[in-house]
Parts: sequence; structure tokens; C-alpha cells
Amino acid sequence: MKMPISGFSKLNKSEKIEWLTKNSFSQNNNIKNILLQYCNSNEKLQKLHDEFAENTISNFYLPFAIAPNFIINKKLYTIPMVTEESSVIAAASKSAKFWLDKGGFNATVLSTKKVGQVHFIYKGDFKKLKKYFDKIKPKLISDVSSITSNMNKRGGGILNIELLNLSDKIENYFQIKAIFDTQDAMGANFINSCLEQFAKTFKNNFTEKNEIEIIMSILSNYVPECIVKAEVSCDVEKLSDTNIIDPFDFANKFVRAVKIAEVDRYRAVTHNKGIMNGIDSVVIATGNDFRAIESAAHAYASKSGSYKSLTKASVENKIFKFSIEIPLALGTVGGLTKLHPLANLALDILGKPNSEDLMKITAVAGLAQNFAAIKSLITTGIQHGHMKMHLINILNQQKATDKEKEKAIEYFKTNTVSHLKVDLFIKKLRSNG
Ligand code: MEV
Repeated sequence: MKMPISGFSKLNKSEKIEWLTKNSFSQNNNIKNILLQYCNSNEKLQKLHDEFAENTISNFYLPFAIAPNFIINKKLYTIPMVTEESSVIAAASKSAKFWLDKGGFNATVLSTKKVGQVHFIYKGDFKKLKKYFDKIKPKLISDVSSITSNMNKRGGGILNIELLNLSDKIENYFQIKAIFDTQDAMGANFINSCLEQFAKTFKNNFTEKNEIEIIMSILSNYVPECIVKAEVSCDVEKLSDTNIIDPFDFANKFVRAVKIAEVDRYRAVTHNKGIMNGIDSVVIATGNDFRAIESAAHAYASKSGSYKSLTKASVENKIFKFSIEIPLALGTVGGLTKLHPLANLALDILGKPNSEDLMKITAVAGLAQNFAAIKSLITTGIQHGHMKMHLINILNQQKATDKEKEKAIEYFKTNTVSHLKVDLFIKKLRSNG
């Protein structure tokens, strides 16, 4: 019978696994071996990974792949990407190659500001609060000097602090809104530490301190002022390859496909999901926080009030233009970026970029992914490439041998892949001995 447990985190790894074997829904009596086969025999390395989270009992592998041939601002990059989706890397690589002889991608960081908020309730007179805020503001900043001194030396720090009266939205609700520059760090710990100190200073120095009730102090992952733009463009005539029959038809169809994602929410979500296939892969490979990036991107996609495509496409004077504008609060120092050996290696592969360079590279990965998806969708259809990439997963589900895989790959080069067709193919191979 399953039982709740207290003090679980204090058990060692073997004890935790032992407990799990008796207390989960799994009927598998091989749990321990499955978990342990993914643990690294290098004890030091394993310990490092164990300590990234609490209650670690194994490692969860995902492919660490690379997409070569990306020209970004005239520099050639190989982009490390971590994803479980089989077609993502192939799509990125194809897109990079497509744009390679057309000048590649250009990217520019438009802004790098981040926001933090102290949310509080105050039941007194607003004029009194405002007067107090203006007086205490220098102390709010000086009280965090031990937190900000290093960041100031690196050229970052607090850019502004303001008091917001939001009592029209929630009775007696006010906010201290602070703007930060966190340089090459994503900055969550830095911002949150500053905010918690602001809250203490702000409440404790008020004459009637009980009149201020701090609700919470936390950074905002919405970063509409931490924006990067990436773009590609070329003469429409140059948009040709084996899948593009008429470049002008292709360009017009492409622009329409993007327009659809501007007006139709159902399409926009899928369209942006494709962009995030590229973005998240780089974000994960470089040890950044993909949940923060995801929530910011989708909030930004709905900044007009309706959820829209993050990319734009146009044809003007026979020039095809395709671009993305996206918030990306990324770091190249702090967090797991240096601590996780593969994240560190990923940054090395990229030439140790600063956070602005990483913003550019990541935005390009998103744009490239979207280009590849739309190109497939409006020409061959997505399943053609997807199922080809998925073939190996289906073969693995069938426990196909290397020989069987070889034969299947050859056969499906010219035949449409489906689960049923692969099943039948393998059955036929096996029955023929
Ligand atoms: C699949 O992961 C992503 C796509 O659906 C994106 C799109 O439809 O644009 C192919």
C-alpha cells in the first residue's frame, strides 16, 4: 500500500529508490536498474548533477545536438541544441544551409531592461505614501549596495525605481516597480535579493509600519524591454531549391502563411510553438531557464491584446523579408551556465558569447525553425520530413536490428512513412527470414 512519508529528502539515493519501488503505481520490478543505468559512473560528475535538484534519483537524457552553417552577422556558428523532437535539428540545419549563400541572418539587440516588483497593500493617504517614497528612494538604493556593488562594477545595476498606484485595480494595492540591467546574468537572484531588501527598508522606515503590508517581492518574467530582432532577406528570385517550384508563388504563399498566424489564434499558437522548438533547444543547451523564456514569449505575442505570430514576412520590390522580434532574458554567467559541463561546453562552442550575443543566436534559431516549418508546410507538407525523421523512433519501438533499420531507411527513402507501413515492412522482413 502507498504511504505518505516525512523526511524523504534526508534519505540517501539508494534509500529513496528503495522507498519508490514499494510506493509508486509502477508494477515494474526493474525500477532500480532502469534508474541506475542512467547514473554516471564518474562519481564526482554524478554528484554535481544530483545536487542540481532535491531528491535526484537518476539523470534524464535528452539529445545534445548541433546545427552547423549558421551565418549570424557575418560570423559562422555551429549552434548546440537540446531537444527530444526528431525533426528540429534537421529543420534548423536545412534552414541555416538555405540562408548560407544569401548573406545569412542578421540580428540586433533592441533593449536589455528587466523588471522587478514589490507588491503591497496600504490603507492610508496616497499623498503621504508618495512623499515617503520620494524621501526613502535613495535609502532603498543604498540599502542594497552590498548586493549591487559587483553588478555596478560590471556596468549593470538598478536603472530606476518608481511607485505605482494600482488601487483602481485592487483596493489599496500599490507597487514598487524597479528596472534593472543585469549585464550577462539572467539576473533572477540578483533582482529578487534587491526586491526583498527594498521591501524591508520600505516597510521598516515608515512611521506607521503596520499600515504597509508587503504581499510579495519578485522579478517579472515579462521582459518587453529585453528584446532582440533577427531577420533574413533576399531577392525573391533567389528563393529556389528542389521544393520551391516558383519563387514568387513561394514567397507570396509564405507571407500569407505568416499573415494567417497574425489573425488566427489557433494557427498562431502552433506557429509560435514551432519558433519555440528552436529557441528552447538553445536555451536548454546553454543552461538557461526555458520556462521563463516561454512565458515571456507568449505574453509578448499577445501584447496587442490578441495572440499573434512572433514573426513577420513581407515581399516588397521583389525582396523577401522575414523577421522575428522576441523577448529573451538569457544569461551567460550564473545559474547552470558554467556549472553544467554541457551548458558550459555549449557556450564554448558558440565562442563564449555575452548575453546579447546569445540573445541574437537564440532568436536566429527560432527564426530558422519557423522558416523551415513554413517552407515545408506550404510545399511538401510537414509529414514528409517529420515522418522521415520519426522513422527511427518507430523502428526502435519495433526493436528493429541495425540491419532491419538499414533496409527500412533505404525503402522509406522513396515511400511514405506511417506507423502501419513501417510495422508491415518489418513484419514482412522478419517473415522472409
Ligand atoms: C512541430 O513541432 C512544429 C510545427 O507544427 C510548427 C508549425 O506548424 O509552424 C511544424
